[in-house]
Amino acid sequence: MKYIDKIKSLPKKEDPIILAIESSCDETACAILKGGREVLSSEIISSASVHAIYGGVVPEIASRAHTDAIDKVVYKALNKANLTFSDLDAIAVTYGAGLLGALLVGVSYAKALAFSLGIPLIPVSHIRGHLAAAYLSDKELKPPFITLLASGGHTAIIHVLDYDNFEILGSTLDDAVGEAFDKVARVLGLPYPGGPNVEKLAKDGNDIIAMPKMLKGSKGYNFSYSGLKTAVINYAHKCQQKGETFNKADLAKSFQCAAIDILVDKAIDAACEKKVDTITVGGGVGANGYLRESLSKKCADKSIKLVLPQKCMCTDNAAMIGAEGYLRYLKGDFADLDLNAKAQVGIECK
Ligand code: KG4
Ligand code: ZN
Repeated sequence: MKYIDKIKSLPKKEDPIILAIESSCDETACAILKGGREVLSSEIISSASVHAIYGGVVPEIASRAHTDAIDKVVYKALNKANLTFSDLDAIAVTYGAGLLGALLVGVSYAKALAFSLGIPLIPVSHIRGHLAAAYLSDKELKPPFITLLASGGHTAIIHVLDYDNFEILGSTLDDAVGEAFDKVARVLGLPYPGGPNVEKLAKDGNDIIAMPKMLKGSKGYNFSYSGLKTAVINYAHKCQQKGETFNKADLAKSFQCAAIDILVDKAIDAACEKKVDTITVGGGVGANGYLRESLSKKCADKSIKLVLPQKCMCTDNAAMIGAEGYLRYLKGDFADLDLNAKAQVGIECK
């Protein structure tokens, strides 16, 4: 019997044990989940310190690091969960979006594992994974809700109507918010990864330097970060050209406030307009302390429930891939062995 026919004939389990693999960027991650919302283990081997030497992720180095780490991280996750391969019911893997060579390491490993164990292979979109992270922090969470997606590649306000029914209310017209954090970090002379370092420096800032209004006050839920990024770069360059020193912490704080305030305001507006009582957050920028504080306060003011994943579940991890993988498992969205990695995957794609 062909692999895919055998897989489709298997009975579905109520509380499947799913091993999830994530290798889209510079983190090789593996997690094991029971019943979609209970994380038995979540392990990460990061190559970020190697990329830091070059000021950003070097795709070829990332692929090689994944090849070195994948076996180790899978065994770490199994050991932590006190399980063996024979306990697994399915393998979920990020197939896109991300660096092609990096994704291929995870996809190839997952295919081989699923085939050799005779269990389903579940392809998961990285973006859907970020959205599903919220299900891990609130086990009772159910759509509908509004998600603020803020990562290195995406910025969007999404109305999650059902597990598989999304309305994208708005997204960025140019740079993603995380990308803007990373570019501003470089201008401020901060090392990779930029976001957490800008946040750290901003804590020492006092005075706010005027920043462009972006799309503040404009109708709708779209964002634009390229003007803000350019304003920060121009401010720093002008000061340097005039031989003037400037307060880097003030500039970091001013940028952070401008970049985050608009996300928070639009997420609240969306919940009010759509009459939805819950907001969730997904993506690496969701780990930002100022965003977490500001959104918590504004949600409390409006009696909106906020589901904020732990910081380690906002940045890239495999548990979120397992959470989305479980939803795909219930639907029987399994892949055959010709599954390929994809560099680009739209927010709306499964
Ligand atoms: O979701 P993620 O880990 O990877 C993508 O799917 O892109 O997001 C990474 C992005 C990077 O741009 C990083 O600088 C940003 O999230 N980030 C932060 C913080 N932690 C990570 N940005 C601001 N503050 C943080 N604490
Ligand atoms: Zn991500």
